[in-house]
Amino acid sequence: MRNELIDPFNRKIEYVRVSVTDLCNYRCGYCMPEQGVHPDGHHKEYLSYEELARIIKVFTKLGVSKIRLTGGEPLVRKRLHELVEMIKPYEGLEDIALSTNAHYLDREAEALVKAGVNRCNISIDSLRPQRFKNITRGGDLEKVLAGVDKALEVGMKPVKFNMVVMKGTNDDEIEAMVDYGIEKGVEVRFIETMPIGPAGVSMMDQHYAAEKILKRIKAHVGADLLPSTDRSDAGPARNFHIAGTNARIGVISAVSNHFCDTCNRVRLTARGVLALCLGQEDSVDLRSPLRDGVSDEELEQIIIAAIAKKPERHFFRENVHNIEFRQMVQLGG
Ligand code: GTP
Ligand code: 5AD
Ligand code: SF4
Repeated sequence: MRNELIDPFNRKIEYVRVSVTDLCNYRCGYCMPEQGVHPDGHHKEYLSYEELARIIKVFTKLGVSKIRLTGGEPLVRKRLHELVEMIKPYEGLEDIALSTNAHYLDREAEALVKAGVNRCNISIDSLRPQRFKNITRGGDLEKVLAGVDKALEVGMKPVKFNMVVMKGTNDDEIEAMVDYGIEKGVEVRFIETMPIGPAGVSMMDQHYAAEKILKRIKAHVGADLLPSTDRSDAGPARNFHIAGTNARIGVISAVSNHFCDTCNRVRLTARGVLALCLGQEDSVDLRSPLRDGVSDEELEQIIIAAIAKKPERHFFRENVHNIEFRQMVQLGG
């Protein structure tokens, strides 16, 4: 029988978000400061693919069925498909997903799918090239849109779009994003900015509440938004069907309406730290024991002990600037 990871609040942990690098070729303002976060780490500071795969294997023995590869930008790390090939055969692993800015996706999508990635979420905050460039501090919308088409062409399913809505920056594009999603047959998730790291905190004056977004979308499509009851939708997004169509949209409202009571996830950083909550400092170093030569059984025990420390929830609303010590880019969202 497979083990299970149950936290102190009776939540089953079955999803690990694995950051494979804390570097990114873009620099979105809500995610990292203009100068970046830190100088590139020595490559030995990062877990190798073998080390990442070993930790993932132990997690799957503990009942984890879903892995999401994130960054920074995961495709900045070379030959990511090799990591996917390593983890694909692990028993109980049902879902290997990717969160990406899609800049390199046109080039990488095919190899990733062949290796075993089944789906991906793509960040797109604007459909206007110059604005996109400003938001990402240098991003190339054309490459991203080519990445979207490639992901669809090679059969990633589902592809989802993530749009962080920022008042006064891109909130006038909510309707255009709905239309782009419908055109591509892709669900768009509209995300409230979260106060994580100094960069996230600095953007909170542009926070735009999910309820306002939903109202705008409803007016735009001229139809009701029917809450989805699909079980596969368990996650941060509240999903809706646009009545009378096959189209879906979602909102991720961590600030106005937190979803911590159904949290099923933890995060592994590229330097081997297990972060137990996106919005709290609690974390456990896995890299040191790993490099000290612990057995798989010992690693299992370290992980079980870590999960016993998972906090109940974040407190973004009450204490907006609580997460100063780490940037979103180091956590992979
Ligand atoms: P699905 O499995 O497709 O639902 O993906 P996801 O929404 O879990 O992952 P994605 O990487 O696309 O993240 C979308 C947004 O949700 C980002 O802004 C993440 O920071 C946010 N998010 C993901 N997980 C959590 C979480 O546990 N807590 C909070 N507060 N936000 C989260
Ligand atoms: N608030 C909300 N979402 C964020 N992301 C990055 N930083 C923030 C933030 N401060 C999103 C990215 C990407 C996902 C992985 O996390 O836009 O879609
Ligand atoms: Fe890079 Fe994504 Fe952060 Fe933007 S949000 S800087 S694309 S990791």
